[in-house]
Amino acid sequence: MTSGTSRRLPDFPWDSLADHAAKARTHPGGVVDLSIGTPVDPVPELIRHALGTVADQPGYPTTHGAASLREAVVGALTRRHGVPPLDPVAVLPTIGSKELVAWLPTLLGLGPGDVVAIPALAYPTYEVGARLAGATPVRLADGEPAPAGTALVWLNSPSNPTGRVQDAARMAQAVADAREVGAVVASDECYLALAWTAEPVSVLRPEVNGGSLDGLLAVHSLSKSSSLAGYRAGFVTGDPALVASLLEVRKHAGMIVPRPVQAAMTAALTDDAHVAEQRERYRARRELLLPALTAAGFTVDHSEAGLYLWSTRGGEDAWDTVAWLAERGILAAPGTFYGPTGDKHVRIALTAADDRIAAAVERLTS
Ligand SMILES: Cc1ncc(COP(=O)(O)O)c(C=O)c1O
Repeated sequence: MTSGTSRRLPDFPWDSLADHAAKARTHPGGVVDLSIGTPVDPVPELIRHALGTVADQPGYPTTHGAASLREAVVGALTRRHGVPPLDPVAVLPTIGSKELVAWLPTLLGLGPGDVVAIPALAYPTYEVGARLAGATPVRLADGEPAPAGTALVWLNSPSNPTGRVQDAARMAQAVADAREVGAVVASDECYLALAWTAEPVSVLRPEVNGGSLDGLLAVHSLSKSSSLAGYRAGFVTGDPALVASLLEVRKHAGMIVPRPVQAAMTAALTDDAHVAEQRERYRARRELLLPALTAAGFTVDHSEAGLYLWSTRGGEDAWDTVAWLAERGILAAPGTFYGPTGDKHVRIALTAADDRIAAAVERLTS
């Protein structure tokens, strides 16, 4: 039996890769799975240590998060991303960012008749979130303003899947356009710390928001920058009134980050060295994989930041490219997972161990 809610949702895209995954696994050197962006490097020791320090605290943690965690968020945003110090009261930890993305339209009270604007090529959960709320997702081309009736606009720079970075002027225009129609702006800044050839900016910066946080939310994740996908660690911040209303609902619904994860997040957000180290690991992988793809006849578009190489083999159909790569034991995600206009691209992740990246390079260049 399927529930009414699950019927509103698309098929889980990765299930459709199963045949190509089976093909790739038959390669004598083993599969190189570059189809998902899951971290593979060790969790930094200071974070593991922090996790254990609160193992013997039996009481409930607060939904709002410990004050020390919220202060650590404010400090990290200022140090790492040049965000003017926020009021820690406007910080709310989330159980990773995917759940916030999926539930934000519902938490904001959106429903049938409301439009949720998402990028033409986008992380699939923006659409899922709109559908869970019964709202209508609308895909916007680059620079296209949100139509009247839009209640929520998702921005995502650096982008998953394209790695495209919007400069401050373009971000500011998107914010102004959304404000024009009275929409909330949610900026998913999951890849902000992973920039290669362009400098992404947070929506929390005054040159983007004109010095006002009204109607703005910034959504952050520690999954990629601190290799904490397994811990489920994220946060949302921005407009204090919006954050307060999210907190209110999340308190009632039990959407609480476990205390050990709160402690781990606090440690991660207080240390920048491990973020720099992790970034260098990904940079090194990118510097091997990108030229290997080019040598194999691919064109890599955008990919100025983030964990993916948005690649096309001369405009070939995305599924044919997935099949071509699977023949060589490499698994990639077809661009169509992210929107219909991704039909000529595949998304190739940088999140594999060094030996797997070396195997992919060897297969692409021999
Ligand atoms: C754009 C974007 N947003 C959000 C997420 C969710 O990350 P997490 O739930 O691990 O914080 C991802 C994960 O890949 C992503 O690519």
